[in-house]
Amino acid sequence: MTGNLFERASRVLPGGAQGWLRREFHGPEPLVVVRASGSRIWTAEGRELLDYHMAFGAVVLGHSDPDVARAVSEQSERLMLHGAGVADVEVEYAELLVKLIPGSKGVVFTVSGSEAVMLALRAARAATGRSLVVKFEGNYHGWHDYSLYNVKTPLSMGGKVAETRGIPRETASTVEVLPYNDVDALRSFMAERGGEVAAIIMEPVAHSMGVVPAEERFVKEAERLARTYGAALIFDEIITGVRVSLRGMQDYYGVRADMTVMGKGIANGLPVAALLLTPEYFSLFEEGLVVASGTYASHPLSMAGGLAALRKAVKMQLDKVLWRKAEEAAKAVRDALEEAKVTAAVSQFGGSFSVHIGLEKPPRNLSEALKADLEGYRRMARELRSRGVLVSPNPLKRFHVSAAHTSEDVEKLHEAARAALAALK
Ligand SMILES: Cc1ncc(COP(=O)(O)O)c(C=O)c1O
Repeated sequence: MTGNLFERASRVLPGGAQGWLRREFHGPEPLVVVRASGSRIWTAEGRELLDYHMAFGAVVLGHSDPDVARAVSEQSERLMLHGAGVADVEVEYAELLVKLIPGSKGVVFTVSGSEAVMLALRAARAATGRSLVVKFEGNYHGWHDYSLYNVKTPLSMGGKVAETRGIPRETASTVEVLPYNDVDALRSFMAERGGEVAAIIMEPVAHSMGVVPAEERFVKEAERLARTYGAALIFDEIITGVRVSLRGMQDYYGVRADMTVMGKGIANGLPVAALLLTPEYFSLFEEGLVVASGTYASHPLSMAGGLAALRKAVKMQLDKVLWRKAEEAAKAVRDALEEAKVTAAVSQFGGSFSVHIGLEKPPRNLSEALKADLEGYRRMARELRSRGVLVSPNPLKRFHVSAAHTSEDVEKLHEAARAALAALK
């Protein structure tokens, strides 16, 4: 059945799946998903998989969380799309987000994280009258033209490299890519061109080279340099928001960002992202100097589901729950690696963790992450899947837990990891 659906998918969907990352899951055999609940997903063949991928970390409460599903269902009978004025659920959801994120006065909703990042960059350019954006190697900020550089390609392989064809050359000149966690490189770039910089954008914990937290002095220096040169500091918290901290990472590092982008976990995976604004940036949108729009932005179904999800997350202190569950799951994998005498760095931060086979210590940047045994990881992921555990096949992505993961799941993960590593020998 899966084979048939996959063949049909390949005829009508490029690569047989949406986008460049989901198609990787078709190896070694096609993956056609028909249902998901809690920590499990089911394939078209009726196979049950314990999910440690959790939709790239977007699902934080568990698949098809009943409270979120109920809120979406009730909303669908009351108001599906208004396209005029504001909806009640939208106001409540915005108020809750503003209450959570330090320094924020307001929020602009978009459908996806990529759009929210685009809007943040537009606002920074509007505020400063400058074009240049500084982003960091190994940081991902969505698929759009303005920052899709050196996400998986290190600077050492030819400098600034776009991860797709089709980005105008003119746009490329508006982006500078610098190495992550490298204070000196950032300082010297800003000393030379700081007056041209509209924004410094970063993932406070990078998630596309494994799980790699920014060092405190790096974040503090980015804030100081942004202030000194009049640039905006943008925190891309699309993964860290809720999954690492319900209040985002500003308090953790003791810095203030001008804009914070959130997505994924704020709505347990419903299509919504949010750009949180300080008063200065709020005014830009309020006065109509920066335009945001979108037929489906603030979609009532996402607003209702997101509100239910976020309220539940706050009530159960979900960030703390996810930390604990990720620590347990990471330990299970670490133990299995040690038992199999496989050298690897397991890096856990918040509700995610990564495994870099062959590394003695966690990487600090993309170049270090790429020194891991990437093929070894891919083989481990394949072996895990054949034993009923789904993890990302991509060695630069990570494992994610949710509130629905149980201690029995951790045991299953441990057993599967032991067997998978034994099979690799
Ligand atoms: C840190 C980060 N920023 C931005 C994005 C883009 O968000 P979306 O996929 O919703 O467009 C992602 C998605 O994976 C992300 O992880």
